[in-house]
Amino acid sequence: MSERISGFQASPIRRLVPYANDAKRRGIHVFHLNIGQPDIKTPPQVIKAVQNYGAQIIAYGQSEGDLELREALPSYYKSFGVDISPEDLMITTGGSEALQFVFMTLCDPEDEIIIPEPYYTNVGAFAHGASVVLKPVTSNIADGFTLPDIDHFKAQITEKTRGILLCSPNNPTGHIYTDDELHQILELVREHDIFLIVDEVYREFCYDGKDFTSVLSYPEYADRVIVVDSFSKRYSMCGARIGTLVSKNHKVLDGAMKLAQARLCPPDIEQVAALAAVQTPHEYLDIVKAEYEKRRDFLVEELKKIPGVFCTSPKGAFYLVAKLPVEDAEDFCIYLLRDFQLNGQTVMLAPAEGFYVTPTLGHDEVRIAYVLNTVDLKYAMACLKAALESYPKRVRP
Ligand SMILES: Cc1ncc(COP(=O)(O)O)c(C=O)c1O
Repeated sequence: MSERISGFQASPIRRLVPYANDAKRRGIHVFHLNIGQPDIKTPPQVIKAVQNYGAQIIAYGQSEGDLELREALPSYYKSFGVDISPEDLMITTGGSEALQFVFMTLCDPEDEIIIPEPYYTNVGAFAHGASVVLKPVTSNIADGFTLPDIDHFKAQITEKTRGILLCSPNNPTGHIYTDDELHQILELVREHDIFLIVDEVYREFCYDGKDFTSVLSYPEYADRVIVVDSFSKRYSMCGARIGTLVSKNHKVLDGAMKLAQARLCPPDIEQVAALAAVQTPHEYLDIVKAEYEKRRDFLVEELKKIPGVFCTSPKGAFYLVAKLPVEDAEDFCIYLLRDFQLNGQTVMLAPAEGFYVTPTLGHDEVRIAYVLNTVDLKYAMACLKAALESYPKRVRP
């Protein structure tokens, strides 16, 4: 086996699955708050489009994605004030592939990308696969994971830095970068002639009446801006594997196109589904957003009631990072699945240490995905509270 493969970490979102499977075999119901798989229904016209797929041959399509879908997307971007044309975007096999294309297109081995931590953990795998070094800038739970001081980003810039990667609204913290924060970062990337990549796959999920500002709405920086996008969360169609890579810098897209051609094309039936998804009435997104906001409020209230647990209220996406009164959150997450049950139920969480680049951080934190309805969340939080009471290694104040 390669040294490269041994350097990958097993996903903190999925690596405890064998414990969950074992609990299920013992008849225990597991609430999955470890993974961003919502229980929200996919828009019905998307399912119908798949059912009505009429081609006689499921053929290879265009490497950059089907023209019809690419032509339909600008009007979606227009709906939040962004002007792009079909030539500014490429359809990818999920936002995941868009992230991989970005690393391979911008970076040579040992080049560096600066990223606030905690960060979307799979980015670590994509960076490692491309031999890219992630340089972390630590954001803190105490101040709601706001953007760290810009000087911390400056301090990480070297001659190997190719860009800064943000995720907004953020997975796992829920932070949404403000206009002011984005401006500071955009100025920095311009000053150092590097790229700003923003993963906006949760842009629909901004709470407290706040509007979302896309990094694509700053035309003066357009040449160094790349956006990673996805249909997975917006339309609750994670299994369809359709994403988008957007940039006004066509050198970036031309580079990524070489990789796109090598993998031939994005999945065809799913692009038909995605085309139907683009036509989803805005009302669907409004209802889904209101549902997540309700869940967020409920979850934060429930967590506040548990002694020793700390979190702030996330502003967007559908995750939060909570500090627990434990020394080793992974050990506690295993305890939840292997040694604990409350009325035949338990909860699966993601230990947060794998969401940090810095190995010493996140050991007493978990990421919680509020992807289940409030009834399930209530049971899940009852499990968490009871498990913290019975956990033998609980840290007492
Ligand atoms: C921030 C972020 N980016 C990208 C992805 C990957 O999305 P996709 O399902 O489109 O590959 C995820 C999935 O959870 C995510 O949370």
